[in-house]
Amino acid sequence: MVRILYSEEEIARQVQLLAGQISAHYAPLVSISYPLVVLPVLKGAFVFSSDLLRRVTVPLRVEFLRASSYREGTVSGGLELDIPETAFLSGHHLLLLEDIVDTGRTASQILATLKGCGPASLQICALLDKPSRRVAPVEVHFRGFTIADRFVIGYGMDLAERYRELPYVGELEECTF
Ligand code: IMP
Ligand code: MG
Repeated sequence: MVRILYSEEEIARQVQLLAGQISAHYAPLVSISYPLVVLPVLKGAFVFSSDLLRRVTVPLRVEFLRASSYREGTVSGGLELDIPETAFLSGHHLLLLEDIVDTGRTASQILATLKGCGPASLQICALLDKPSRRVAPVEVHFRGFTIADRFVIGYGMDLAERYRELPYVGELEECTF
């Protein structure tokens, strides 16, 4: 059984709020010829980014990053990062989009790599932030919800590749039999 933590409606409201904050922040900085570059981290951010980006009102370009820090189950493994060579990140305003920032290891390694590309600015937007689990100092500039130390699924997030398709964010209830 899955216990719902954030319903579709609650998520939609928060996504709209984030889109407003992001649009207001970047409106003076970007243009059609110099768009914001949004970098959703696959796979987890694919649902969040598709909802969010349709509500952002500044010109943008999307470049997907592929990172996997969890193999099977909930134990963190090594990071694989795949940045497209044709992404043209240098001199642009970059916004990393994460489903969730947990220990911060993934985001901090991605940030270090992206800094090497010489961006005009570099910020993070995450639907969920679990600050109590942080081991790498990562600041989330645009945050949907702050959650306690619990493992969540749905709205793009998985447990061993399952549950990404759920339209809400939930928690698995322990099986009692
Ligand atoms: P971090 O490197 O520990 O910050 O973890 C980052 C990645 O781990 C996130 O982008 C997620 O893909 C995954 N992750 C962390 N916590 C959870 C969770 O509660 N549910 C599902 N995935 C998670
Ligand atoms: Mg992720």
